[in-house]
Order: sequence, then structure tokens, then C-alpha cells
Amino acid sequence: MSVVHFTRYRMEIDLSGVPAVPELPDGYYWVPWDDSLLTIHAEVHYRAFHDCIDRYLFPCFSDRDSCWFLLREIRDKPGFMPQATWLIGAANGCVATIQCIEAEPRVGSIQNVGVLPRHRHQGLGQALILQALHGFHEAGLKRAWLDVTAENEQALRLYQRLGFRMKEMSIKEIHDWKLEEIS
Ligand SMILES: CC(C)(COP(=O)(O)OP(=O)(O)OC[C@H]1O[C@@H](n2cnc3c(N)ncnc32)[C@H](O)[C@@H]1OP(=O)(O)O)[C@@H](O)C(=O)NCCC(=O)NCCS
Repeated sequence: MSVVHFTRYRMEIDLSGVPAVPELPDGYYWVPWDDSLLTIHAEVHYRAFHDCIDRYLFPCFSDRDSCWFLLREIRDKPGFMPQATWLIGAANGCVATIQCIEAEPRVGSIQNVGVLPRHRHQGLGQALILQALHGFHEAGLKRAWLDVTAENEQALRLYQRLGFRMKEMSIKEIHDWKLEEIS
């Protein structure tokens, strides 16, 4: 049996002075939150995380129905922020999702962000995050954070480029993940 360790970092950003949301590439458009879109967020989330290391840490990411329940749980949180929760649409349907909550007073949390593999590397991930950060800022929030798996280098680079920085954490706050066997 192999034991695999994963480290998750918490990264934070000050919401004053966040860069403007860029124009989406041709053929893509913004889809604001609506309750009727919960299933679409869940489907995009499921497909976006299919090849991501996080599926080992969060087994629910590998199952369609569990993604739906996860999305419903986020939607039902008292701090759910529809104004920071978006889809990106394209000709054949939605291709990217971001879901956010106010985790503490005036502090936003990006719960999940995912772009379908075929639509990556065009700036959609960056645009989604900036769109969410502006949603937080317009709602009066001051800071935002997210958690990222250390091995997810693509995501880490993106967050650092946007100005997220590692949060200093107490030992109690640090989550080290140990999985017995992954295949
Ligand atoms: C992480 C994730 C959201 C990034 O989405 P994305 O749409 O590819 O993000 P971007 O396009 O903004 O940036 C990705 C790369 O494309 C590059 N890029 C952006 N626009 C580009 C363009 N027009 N042409 C070429 N490259 C471009 C960026 O510079 C970046 O390069 P880098 O990897 O060298 O840093 C996506 O990989 C994903 O969904 N992964 C699976 C789920 C996941 O890991 N989510 C995060 C959990 S914390």
C-alpha cells in the first residue's frame, strides 16, 4: 500500500486594486448565476475536475451526482454569493464555472474554479477569477481567499500571477492530506 501526501495552501488577495476583468475571447460569453443553472454548474464542475489532482482529495469530484450535491451545498450556504458565481458559455454549452461564498464578514472565498480541458489556455480561468473578485469587491468585501493543492502548478501560477499570496497559517490551520493508495 502506498501513502501519498498532499499539501494544500491557502492563498489570499486584497480586493482593492484588482485588475479589470478582461474581454472574453470571441465566441465566449458570461452567464450570471440563476438557481435554474445549478445542474449546469455541477456538470461543468464534474467535467473540469476530471483530470485534476483534486479528485483524489475530494472523491465527490469524480461522481456526477456528488458534484450536484456539492453545488447544492454551496448554493445553500448562508454566505453564498450569486454575484461572484459565474459560468462561461460557448457555442455548444457552458465550459467554465466559478462558485463563491462570503466565508467570514467581508471576506470572500472561491470555492471552486474549473475550465473544461478543451477550452483552457485562452485566459478563461483568469477571467473567471477576476469576475468573481469584482463581484466580491462590489458587494463590499475586502479580501478573498482560496485553497489550492501544492501539486496543482497550473492553478498556483495563475493565482500568483493575479496577486494571490500564501497566507501565513498557524499549525492548527495547516491541512496536510494523507491518502492511503491512489490509482
Ligand atoms: C486551473 C484552471 C482553472 C486554469 O484555467 P485556464 O482557462 O487554462 O487558465 P488561463 O487560460 O487563464 O491560464 C492558463 C495558462 O494559459 C496561458 N494563456 C492565457 N491566455 C492565453 C492565450 N490567449 N494563448 C496562449 N496561452 C494563454 C496563461 O498564461 C497560463 O499559462 P501558464 O500555465 O504558463 O501560467 C484549469 O486548468 C482547470 O480547470 N483545471 C482543473 C480544475 C482545477 O485545477 N481548478 C483549480 C483548483 S484550485
